[in-house]
Amino acid sequence: LDTAKLHNFVTSNCMTYQINTYGCQMNAHDSEKIAGILEKNGFLEWDESSHQTKKADLIIFNTCCVRDHAEARVFGNIGALREAKENNPDMVIAVCGCMMQQEGMEQKISRRFPFVDIIFGTHNLDEFEKYIHEVIIEKKKIRQIQEGMEIIEDLPIKRAYNKSAYATIMYGCDNYCSYCIVPYVRGRERSRDMEAVVQEVRGLAKQGYVEITLLGQNVNSYGGNGNNASFPQLLRTLNEIDGLEFIRFMTSHPKDLSDELIEVMARCDKICKHIHLPVQSGSNRILTAMNRCYSREHYLSLIHKLRAQIPDIAVTTDIIVGFPGETEDDFEDTLRLMEQVRFTSAFTFMYSVRTGTKAADMQHQIDKKIKKQRLHRLNALQNQIIQEDAPGYINKTMRVMVDEVMNKKDEVKAKAENTKTVFLKGDPHMIGKVYEVKIKAARAGALVAEII
Ligand code: SAH
Ligand code: SF4
Ligand code: F3S
Repeated sequence: LDTAKLHNFVTSNCMTYQINTYGCQMNAHDSEKIAGILEKNGFLEWDESSHQTKKADLIIFNTCCVRDHAEARVFGNIGALREAKENNPDMVIAVCGCMMQQEGMEQKISRRFPFVDIIFGTHNLDEFEKYIHEVIIEKKKIRQIQEGMEIIEDLPIKRAYNKSAYATIMYGCDNYCSYCIVPYVRGRERSRDMEAVVQEVRGLAKQGYVEITLLGQNVNSYGGNGNNASFPQLLRTLNEIDGLEFIRFMTSHPKDLSDELIEVMARCDKICKHIHLPVQSGSNRILTAMNRCYSREHYLSLIHKLRAQIPDIAVTTDIIVGFPGETEDDFEDTLRLMEQVRFTSAFTFMYSVRTGTKAADMQHQIDKKIKKQRLHRLNALQNQIIQEDAPGYINKTMRVMVDEVMNKKDEVKAKAENTKTVFLKGDPHMIGKVYEVKIKAARAGALVAEII
């Protein structure tokens, strides 16, 4: 690979790139790697504000397919580039990410949008540099969707923020929740070596990062593939890193949340008092049909243990309404669970049929209208809970990290370890720093605090 030739071509033409990212933090982090590879090769990030008419020279769509509307959006956005590509054949269009791993998708895109230059899958990111070389220098078209188990270390990363960073600790998923496409598009579960993760986070702390978010579809089963590390052990090690202040992770699967993990969360001062613990449904019948491998009672017992050992821990969740066969009674079980737990926030979704998953073939698919009504009722209840719980934050103390200066010059915005937005008196030098604050006023949307 003649990287000098590519670099030379890219820089002498001042080539720019733009990445459109859909989906979860995994994809956001993959986009940081794509940006890292591009900048290493001389590309500049396209600046929307300064180029009103000229589009970027390389446009990338990093796709998601977890729910159906994602597909429609991506297709619309690729289609919208048809004319620009006709007027400027040198423009490069690339499509990658989870959607590309779906059967027949590459052919479908090639047929509908033959002008797309590069299509590659979630296991081919390490070859992206080669693809851009082949397209720009050799004028080829690329169609590469492979399966793979390898973990590629040391890809360049251009991080979106300079105080807060992502680190993937595991790839793929083996849980096969019956509604979910992720195991099919991200492959089998595999964990990074603990040493590699620790090295990366140490390096980040040295560069001045204070917050790390560890990523995986089920971080609680980290290390399961025989590399002799466990998630609690990883957390204990990371908690010792100087300079690091906030350790976050997602997602935790309730079936694998151990007592040891709860204890480690309670003991390690850098681990944020927050857990994202998707419940999906409050009905045991539906949980079984979803293949979630825990009961409503088990979930509630986890919440009880978490709150007993970590007072004021924020619990956030994901919930699906309208799973096949969900009755009004099942749905009311979900509402009641929501009332019992009182989540800090909930990401709520209408069930979306994903071809190839078990649930797609289940009987009693729920009418769209009913799904919409249930979603509406669920969101109304969650909003009510957030309103009701807001005053409870007054006089509480919590750790926050300042991330932005507000328009009013003497005010800054911060994110609390419990995910709440907090406003403080302050100035720009506070950005990226962590403070212990006391809450003075509380609204549903945000808290107002003083440094103590
Ligand atoms: N690994 C994580 C979540 C991955 S996807 C976990 O196990 O919780 C993020 C969320 O999307 C899921 O928690 C689920 O609530 C939602 N989701 C996944 N598949 C879906 C589908 N087919 N329809 C609607 N929502 C879905
Ligand atoms: Fe999907 Fe379940 Fe895996 Fe989460 S744990 S990614 S919901 S299969
Ligand atoms: Fe994430 Fe969507 Fe893929 S949720 S793992 S980007 S299917």
